[in-house]
Parts: sequence; C-alpha cells; structure tokens
Amino acid sequence: MPNAYQNMGPAELDAMIAQLEAEAEAIRARGLKLDMARGKPSVEQTNLSRPMLDTLTSKSELVDEGAPADNYGIPDGLPSARRLAADLLGVDAQNVLVCGSSSLNLMHDVVVNAYTKGIGGCKPWCQQGEIAFLCPSPGYDRHFAVTERYGIKNIPIEMTADGPNMDEVERLVSTDASIKGMWCVPKYANPTGVTYSDEVVRRIAALKPLAPDFRVFWDNAYIVHDLYDEGDKLLNIFDVLAEQGRENLVYEFASTAKITFPSSGMAFVTASPVDIAEIRAAFAIERVSPEKISQLAHVRFLHDADGVRAHMAKHAEILRPRFELVQQKLEDGLADLDVATWTKPRGGYFVSFDGPEGSAKAIVSLMSELGVTLTGAGATWPYGEDPRDTNIRIAPTFPSPDELGEALDVFVVAVKLVSARLARA
Ligand SMILES: Cc1ncc(COP(=O)(O)O)c(C=O)c1O
Repeated sequence: MPNAYQNMGPAELDAMIAQLEAEAEAIRARGLKLDMARGKPSVEQTNLSRPMLDTLTSKSELVDEGAPADNYGIPDGLPSARRLAADLLGVDAQNVLVCGSSSLNLMHDVVVNAYTKGIGGCKPWCQQGEIAFLCPSPGYDRHFAVTERYGIKNIPIEMTADGPNMDEVERLVSTDASIKGMWCVPKYANPTGVTYSDEVVRRIAALKPLAPDFRVFWDNAYIVHDLYDEGDKLLNIFDVLAEQGRENLVYEFASTAKITFPSSGMAFVTASPVDIAEIRAAFAIERVSPEKISQLAHVRFLHDADGVRAHMAKHAEILRPRFELVQQKLEDGLADLDVATWTKPRGGYFVSFDGPEGSAKAIVSLMSELGVTLTGAGATWPYGEDPRDTNIRIAPTFPSPDELGEALDVFVVAVKLVSARLARA
C-alpha cells in the first residue's frame, strides 16, 4: 500500500520536502546533544539498588549457609545465590552455576569451550570445517559478534510476532549438521520486545538437530523485566524439555545486570545435568571461584524471587512512562502516514522500528546531523547487514523523559523527511 508521500503529486511532495527540510534546519540550529542508543538503565534505576551497598560492612558475617564468601572455594556460587537464580529460571539449583557479573561473558565462554574443546563427545567446533549459528533477526548485536569473532557463520532467521520462523529453523537444524547453535532472547527480545509463543517454545524444545553438538543459547536477559503487573508469560523451556523427555539441548543464561547494577551484577547459567557438568569443568579451568562477596550482597538485598519481583516493579514505575511516551510520539507523529511500523513491547529495553525500505541508514545519519545518536542502522542484523535497510532500535530507558520526548520529536521529523525523499526518488 502506498504511503502518504507516495500518494502526493510532484508539486505537493516538493512543498512537503521543503517544509520538512526547514523543520530539520531549525532543529539543527538548536545544537542538540541527545542519545537514544544506549540500552542501559537510567540513573534513577541504578539508584534503586544503592541500598545493596549497605548490606555488607566490615562487621558483616561473610558466610552464606555455611559457605565462606571471603575466600576461594564454592565454585558453583553461594547456595542462596544459586537458589535465587534457580527460582527465577524455574529450574533445579543443582543445575545452576552463578559466576561472573556478565551473562554475555558466560555465553562467550561457553561458545569458546565448544569451539576449542568440543561438547557432547564431539570434535571441537574449530575442527569441523565451516559451522553456523541461527540468528533470529533483528536481534542482539553482541550475540552475533561472539559467533562472528570465531568465524562461525551467522545465518539470519526471520523474527515473527511469535518468535523465530520455526519452519525455517526446523528445516535448517534437521538437515544441516554444520548448524551448531541458535541465539534466542525468548522474553521481550532485544530489540523487538517479542515474547516467544508457547507453540514456538514447544517447537524449539522438540527440535531434532542433525548435529549432536547443536545447542540453543536461551538468553533470558529480560525474564523479570515487565512494564506492567500482568507481564508476558513465557513457557519454561526446561519444563517442556522434561515433558518431552529431551535433554542436552538448551543452555539458559540470565543476569541481574538490569536488576541491580550493569557490569556489577550476578550472572548465571543453567543446562541439563550432563551439559552443566561440562560447563562446570570448563569454568573450573578459567577461574578459581566466582565473585561471592557480590553474590552475598545481592542475596542480602534481593532475598528471593519475590524480592526481585518487588524490586522490578520499582523499575517498571520508572520505565513505563518512557515506553508509553515512545508509543504516543510515534503514534501522533507517524501513524497517519503509513510509512513505518513499530513494536509495542510490554517489557524489556527496546522498541523496534521499521521505516520504508532503504530508509534506516539515512534516518540514523540524519538524526546524527540533528544532534541525536541512535544505534547504528543494521546493528541488529548479522554482519551489520539489514537486507532491506528498514530497522532501527530505539532505546528509551536511559534519557530523562524530557530528553526522550525531544529526541522522539526529532526522530519523527527525520523519518518523515527521509520517507518523503524516498517517495520522490
Ligand atoms: C539480550 C541481552 N543479553 C545480554 C545482555 C548483557 O547482559 P550482561 O550484562 O549480563 O552481560 C544484554 C544487554 O543489553 C542483552 O540485551
């Protein structure tokens, strides 16, 4: 269906472009310096976790259920930290390792272990010729960067409103033994905000990979990051695997990066008993033991899964108005023009925006000229190549509501101008 600009006659369109160029010029003259690129919590959000810093003092007993936090040892993580992580993920604490502050770091280490040493009794990935990962796209650029770094081919998979296109995933995984993994953000995906439907989760759990060393990297980064009391419901993939009598298919990761302090949180991984034993053995070489003082502070502050949910409700109070502002500004500015679509997530950290074909790079570059930084166009696709050049990731969490509103007003003008120019081209 033609958009509003494509429906205009040449004279009307020229006049519209001239008017939008004047608007853009007026914005440029203001010398703005705004940032809508960073998927990180605002200062108000990180301030919520400052009381965690008071949970430990020089007088504190640095012991958790008999496990010392102030020395080496306890390589799987403190007992109450493992239980907290297990309760959040809905799995057995025996199958959880809590270590490090970054889940991405754990994902990287698990990929490197499979690449250099092999998993499931198979040859190391580095000795198996060309291998590949499936990358639901748009997706998280840092996932794609991990596999790209080791020369693993990233294959984009269409992201639908329910999750990855499972017909494509099933076909590839069951027929091609070079496919070793799939990146998934199953709840409030980065950047679409999509939560995988029950059917998609069931189909992933039922995959019959040709490669015995194929694993799903289930990055549940936004597992408790609901904006509303009634959050999206994601099936617990380990429950589904158990129902189907399947094992050794999924590695699940999460962290408290966007619960407490990014880069000073608590990261965790769970897998089947066999798979977690392999990961434990690999991690035992990489580190003597994890950051247990940080774990102790986390469990004394958050207590349990209910404590985490209560804390996340405070984050939601801060974030909801920002996400609603995005919807309102895009709706008011663009809805009538039929030039763009965007997601309406009920949690997570991003809104995914699609403009007309061939527009994303031009919009991001014009925004930069007008003083607003956006995530680079194409960043959400493997190798930075968005085949239709439509997708832009909007990150509303970090700017203040006033700055965000201003940045979105500029965005609306940039989208209109680029769309109108494309209609003339
Ligand atoms: C999907 C996803 N996974 C992982 C991370 C990083 O988490 P961590 O700080 O635990 O490495 C992010 C951060 O933006 C993310 O969006």
